[in-house]
Amino acid sequence: MTVQRAADLLAGARRGLALTGAGVSAESGIPTFRGEGGLWTQYDPVKVSSIETFLADPAAYWRVSKDRGRIALAARPNPGHEALAALEARGCLVALVTQNTDGLHQDAGSRRVLELHGSGRFVECLTCGRREPRSEVQARLETEMPPRCTGCGGAVLKPTVVLFGEPMPPDATQEAFQLASEADVMLVVGTSLVVYPAADVPLLALRSGARMIVVNAEPTPFDRFAEVVVHGRSGEVLPEIVSLIGG
Ligand code: APR
Repeated sequence: MTVQRAADLLAGARRGLALTGAGVSAESGIPTFRGEGGLWTQYDPVKVSSIETFLADPAAYWRVSKDRGRIALAARPNPGHEALAALEARGCLVALVTQNTDGLHQDAGSRRVLELHGSGRFVECLTCGRREPRSEVQARLETEMPPRCTGCGGAVLKPTVVLFGEPMPPDATQEAFQLASEADVMLVVGTSLVVYPAADVPLLALRSGARMIVVNAEPTPFDRFAEVVVHGRSGEVLPEIVSLIGG
C-alpha cells in the first residue's frame, strides 16, 4: 500500500526534507497557479508577475495581488500543513522548503521553513527599503492603487516575494540545496514541479541518493523518479501518513 510505504520511509528518515507548492494551500482556499482554476489559467504570469512588468506597471500587479492577498491573509492552515509540522516534530523532516509565500507552514507550527519564493506577509519600499506588514497595506488598497511608501513619501511598494526574473533569496536557496544534497528521504507535496530553480531541490536530493515520495493531486514530471507516488489531496494523504507513523 503506497501510503504505508511512504509512512515507512518517513519513519526511518534521518535527514528527511520536504518541498511544497501551492497544492498544499489549496484546501485552505488559496487558488493554485496551474491546473484546474489556477491563477495562470486567468492571467499570463509573465505579464502580471514578472519584475519587468511590475516596474513598468505596478498597478497591474497590485490589482491581481489585491484579491489573492486578501484570500491568503484570511487563510488558515489545513490538515496538510499540520501533518507536515508533525513530521518535523517527529524528526522525520529536518526542514521544509516551500515555494509558497502564504506563511501557512509557519502558522501550522513548522519551525525550519525555507521560503524560496519569499514571503507575501510583508511589503518593501523599492526606494528606501522600508518594510511593513502586508496586512497593513492590504487595508489601503481600496483607496491607494498601487500602494506607496509612507516612509519616504511615495515610492512604490512591492511584496517581499520573488517575481519571475528575480533571483531566489541566496541564504534560503543555499541552505535548501545543502539539505537536498544530504537528504535520505525527499517528500514532494502539492507542486507541478515546472518552475526552476525550485524544482532542482528534489533533483539534487535524488542525485544524492535520496528516496523520493510524491504526494500530488495530479501526475507530475517527477513521478517516474519517485519510489512512492500518491495522487490525492495533501490534506487527506499527509494526516494518514502521520497516523500510520504513530508516536
Ligand atoms: N493536494 C495536493 N496537490 C494539489 C491539491 C491538493 N489539495 N490541489 C492542487 N494540487 C496540485 C495540482 O495538481 C498541481 O500539480 O498542486 C500543484 C500546484 O501546482 P502549481 O499551481 O503550479 O503551484 P506550484 O508548483 O507551487 O508553482 C510553483 O510557480 O507561479 C509560480 O511562484 C509561483 O511558487 C509558484 C511556482
